[in-house]
Amino acid sequence: MKPQISSSGPLAQTAFQRNGAGLLCCDGLPLSEVSKTFGTPTYVYSERTIVEAFQRFTQAASGRNTLICYALKANSSLGVIRLLAAQGAGFDIVSLGELQRVIAAGGQADRIVFSGVGKTQAEIAAALQAGIKCINVESAAELEMVAQTAGQLNTVAPISLRVNPDIDAQTHPYISTGLKDNKFGIPMDQAETVYRRAQALPSISIQGIDCHIGSQITSLAPFIDALSRVLALADRLAAAGITLHHLDLGGGLGICYDQETPPAPQALLDAVFARLADWQHTRATPLPEVLFEFGRAIVGNAGVLLTRVELLKPSEHKNFAIIDAAMNDLMRPALYEAWHAVELVAPATTNTKRWDLVGPVCESGDWIARDRELGLAQGDLLAILSAGAYGMSMSSNYNSRPRAAEVLVDREGRAHLIRRREEFSDLIGPERIPDHLRG
Ligand code: LLP
Repeated sequence: MKPQISSSGPLAQTAFQRNGAGLLCCDGLPLSEVSKTFGTPTYVYSERTIVEAFQRFTQAASGRNTLICYALKANSSLGVIRLLAAQGAGFDIVSLGELQRVIAAGGQADRIVFSGVGKTQAEIAAALQAGIKCINVESAAELEMVAQTAGQLNTVAPISLRVNPDIDAQTHPYISTGLKDNKFGIPMDQAETVYRRAQALPSISIQGIDCHIGSQITSLAPFIDALSRVLALADRLAAAGITLHHLDLGGGLGICYDQETPPAPQALLDAVFARLADWQHTRATPLPEVLFEFGRAIVGNAGVLLTRVELLKPSEHKNFAIIDAAMNDLMRPALYEAWHAVELVAPATTNTKRWDLVGPVCESGDWIARDRELGLAQGDLLAILSAGAYGMSMSSNYNSRPRAAEVLVDREGRAHLIRRREEFSDLIGPERIPDHLRG
């Protein structure tokens, strides 16, 4: 039987397609070859898909004063950062580690914005010393901390205030950030007061306004509603004599994991700029620069997690396939009950059954996919799809499992190891047995 190639779903328009022999490939390279060379579990990313996803945003923004930032937390591998830096991406970071990654990968500091509710003074100092574009301040207390740090360094901190527009992004509660119940941002009704305070601080330079309402958003309305609230605040600030040089509208555009149909980047940016044109129409000042911070929509469908079926454990009640990837490698199913499509790399050699794909970790929450009709045999290779975002970056060493390898496949179908599989020495490297416990 010929394998089904669907024209919709998460593989549509990506580099992961089947060749004539029915083998699932990444840009022409059979994933079975990747597993032969690098083993499993391994994350495999398509360079072409990442670049094309990023370019969909830059093309949609062309002719407009924008900076498309890549939210590093989605996938912070150096190879991926380097690839996007070469495309002219800006970067949204949330920690010193992410700042250091951008610099180590050759990204430009003056294209970095720094988000997050709990920046430390040391992180703020490092960001100022590196000369980043903007610190997105999330509370009145953080503003004081930034001002004090900049003062000590004898510099002026470029800042935006991240406001919480109280918009329901209609996404999973764990990845919704723009509701007043969420810890993020400054409540709208306090924002003006905090801006006035910022204006009075000599070591602070107000650059703009920032908001990010959540992730995996699949409709336009929440973005436009949030923008409208941001613009209403911008008007109140203008009346108070506070000028904004940029608007940072965050990230959050969803991808297709299953049957979702999120707006295309072009549709989102067109809707945003239509709303902005409408607003600017009646105002004398030029449109500020518009920043975005997309993560998932750039890398999500560009990666798969390659894993092997270790053992089959069928029973009358339930069929378990134990695979060599686990919740420590891909945490999204355990944490959000997230759904990832699963494909056999080679055509099935056996009849289908309904399987739960589970990892070897000692937790019942350690599952990767449930109730999937698949024809599985021991040793089969599987690809867990749409794993390019929040896969490797959320991985851990739980159960003393070394982290997976990561491979980037270039446009010619050549595989490049961008992170080797961890070894035991990586696991215990930072640890010490204290002297008094040594014999
Ligand atoms: N900007 C800020 C301030 C953020 O907090 C985030 C994501 C982004 C940008 C990028 O959002 P994106 O374009 O990727 O949706 N681990 C979860 C997602 C958490 C998102 C956290 N913030 C998941 O696996 O679904």
